[in-house]
Amino acid sequence: MAGELSPIDKAKFVAAKRAADLVEDGMQVGLGTGSTAAWLVRHLGERVRDSGLRIKGVPTSTRTAQLAHEAGIEVISLDEAKILNMTIDGADEFDGNLNLIKGGGGALLQEKIVAAASEDVVIIADAAKEVGTLGAFPLPIEVIQFGWTTTQMLVEELLVSTDVMGRKTTLRMNGDKPFVTDEGNFILDLHLSRIGNARQLAMALNQMPGVVENGLFIDLCDRVIIGYADGRVETRDIHEGTVSEAHINLVESDNLFSDL
Ligand code: 5RP
Repeated sequence: MAGELSPIDKAKFVAAKRAADLVEDGMQVGLGTGSTAAWLVRHLGERVRDSGLRIKGVPTSTRTAQLAHEAGIEVISLDEAKILNMTIDGADEFDGNLNLIKGGGGALLQEKIVAAASEDVVIIADAAKEVGTLGAFPLPIEVIQFGWTTTQMLVEELLVSTDVMGRKTTLRMNGDKPFVTDEGNFILDLHLSRIGNARQLAMALNQMPGVVENGLFIDLCDRVIIGYADGRVETRDIHEGTVSEAHINLVESDNLFSDL
C-alpha cells in the first residue's frame, strides 16, 4: 500500500509521522491545514485509537476539524484551549531562518492565530518547500470583501516601493467564483518571485485597512521536520541550532494507508 504513494506523499507522510510522535499525553495541539497536515491528523488519530493517547486538538480550518472528528480526535475551540502546547502545520515555503509562506490552502488567518497561541510550532514539509529567499510561491493575503478591488490597488501601489521582483496580484478563485475563507474573506495572491525583506513587507501589509492578515510567518516556527521519500526525516531546531536525523519505516505504517 505504501508503495502506491507518490514520492512527495511519502515525504509528507514521514514528516507528519515524526511530528505526531512528538505529541504527548494530555497536550492541547493545534492542527494545521493542507495535505501534509492531513497526514498528521491521521497519524494522531491512529495513536488515539490504538494507544489511548489523550489529546485535545484545535483545528485551523473546517476541513481539518472534519478530518480530526473522523480520526477520533477530541476537537475543542481555541477559546476553550486558550494556550496550546504544540502546533503542527505544513508550509508552502520555509527559509534558513524558518520564516514561512503559508496560506496555499486558504487557512492562513486561523493558522497564524493558532501558531501565535502555541508554545512550540513545528512545521512539517517535504524538501521541495525549502528556499533560499521566500517569494517564489505566491504570497497569499486575506482581505475583507468590502472594497477588495481598492485594497488590491493599494497593495499594488505598496509593492512599487517594496523590495520584490514581481508585482502582479490575483484574486484567488474557486471555479468561477472568488474563493471565500472560513472567516468569510477573500484571498489575494501576490506573485512576487522574490521577497527582499519579508519582515518589513509583513508589517506594511498588515497596516493596510482592508488586509486582515498576510501569509508571511516570521519568527513563529520553532522547528521544521523535513521528510524524504525514502523514509529519512531531518529535524532542524532554530533555537538550539541543531539538526537531527531519523528514519521512518514506511512498511510498518501500512495500517494507516489501508484506512484511507
Ligand atoms: C494552508 C497552508 C498549508 O500548510 C500549505 O499550503 C501547505 O500545504 P500542503 O501540505 O498541502 O503542501 O498554509 O493554508
